[in-house]
Amino acid sequence: MSKLSIWSIRLALICLIAGWAIGAVLMINRAWGLAGWPWKLVDLHVALVLFGWTLQVVVGVAYWMLPTFGGRSNRGREKAALMSVVAINLGIVWVVAGVFFSPAAPVVATVFWLVAVLSFGWHAWPRIKAFGA
Ligand code: HEM
Repeated sequence: MSKLSIWSIRLALICLIAGWAIGAVLMINRAWGLAGWPWKLVDLHVALVLFGWTLQVVVGVAYWMLPTFGGRSNRGREKAALMSVVAINLGIVWVVAGVFFSPAAPVVATVFWLVAVLSFGWHAWPRIKAFGA
């Protein structure tokens, strides 16, 4: 498995665990009405489970599994895939920062995730072909 896949899937798992843990805090807080501050974490919960986990695990697995060119390790536009993983995680970092500093952070994070989706599309497009073609 390539390093990029290993790291993106590992990061995705960390996001899944963190996202579910925050989800649990939100759920308990909703059930017992303990405090107001946990609601600041809803954006982070959504960022972690939808982008940190779902998008990132797709990128990691697809980068590994889509057909390659010629040799098994020639994956074509590799920098675009790297940019996608970096942008996903910068978006998460931005939302974490937003919990403490800026309410506008999810807007900036969304731009990062748009870059992530487009750059992964740019990477993957030529690899959507028959194996060996
Ligand atoms: C991969 C799995 C998950 C996904 C894709 C997901 C997605 C979401 C989304 C999109 C929202 C925002 C809903 C809104 O703004 O109306 C949300 C809110 C929430 N999630 Fe999750 N979630 C996941 C797992 C979990 C888990 C495991 C828990 C609890 C242990 C949880 C607890 C909550 C709670 C309590 C809210 C706030 C709901 C409210 O506004 O009352 N989530 N989730």
